[in-house]
Amino acid sequence: MKRIFITGAAQGIGREVAKRFWENGHELVLIDLPSLKESELQDQFPERMEYIQADITSLELRPLIEDEMKKGIDVLVNNAGVTRDSTLLKMEEKDWDLVVDVNLKSVFILSQMAAKVMKEAGGGVILNAASVVAHNGNFGQANYVATKAGVIGMTKTMAKELGKNKIRVNAIAPGFIATPMVSKMPEKVIAMMEGKTPLGRMGKPEDIANAYYFLASDEASFITGTCLNVDGGIVI
Ligand SMILES: NC(=O)c1ccc[n+]([C@@H]2O[C@H](COP(=O)([O-])OP(=O)(O)OC[C@H]3O[C@@H](n4cnc5c(N)ncnc54)[C@H](O)[C@@H]3O)[C@@H](O)[C@H]2O)c1
Repeated sequence: MKRIFITGAAQGIGREVAKRFWENGHELVLIDLPSLKESELQDQFPERMEYIQADITSLELRPLIEDEMKKGIDVLVNNAGVTRDSTLLKMEEKDWDLVVDVNLKSVFILSQMAAKVMKEAGGGVILNAASVVAHNGNFGQANYVATKAGVIGMTKTMAKELGKNKIRVNAIAPGFIATPMVSKMPEKVIAMMEGKTPLGRMGKPEDIANAYYFLASDEASFITGTCLNVDGGIVI
């Protein structure tokens, strides 16, 4: 049984990743904003689950997460992410800062915390949420794309630095996945994205959970520093 930390686990991809690990007998430490979903999570994961209600950008809550990691951490999934879209000319600094703090800075903070514990324990796995938009840019998402491209660069760097400590670091770049994050998109845009996807459909959270599960497993024990596109082929 491994101890798996997942940020942004109350819904969407994070929740599905939690389900995949839980169903395979692992212990979960789920981190998300204070949320009405706590009882829902307790119903879904009635045992082997801790829920830390924390804003991962909050300085005060860092010791709480750090103490929990010191009790043991095998895998960290830096999944939490937000969008605050607008074109460059209209983008407000507060929206730049929020997206950078959640999507990029928190990956640095939590990975550093986890890596210290993993190093002492003799190894571990860190998995980061990138996005396919990191590869080619995306209209209206200068802040989001900058963070996701940053996550890919940070993943490669951490993999080089932490390999000697038997810590593997990889990223996943999802394509368009049916979660609350994309449910705000107009039907027309979703249909257009499906049309551009060689496999002809939107992704499901399970598609991404399968990839995280594989990269965390011993089957992936010689894989580090990679960014795996899980996108139905949309960026080929
Ligand atoms: N859905 C997609 O199509 C898609 C595509 C590419 C990448 N991604 C990435 O995958 C990850 C998950 O996406 P999703 O679609 O499931 O998103 P989502 O919006 O459905 O879920 C994100 C979760 O992160 C949590 N979160 C946000 N800010 C937080 C904070 N400060 N502290 C703690 N938790 C916080 C939210 O409460 C939410 O539960 C994100 O990093 C996203 O950028 C998603």
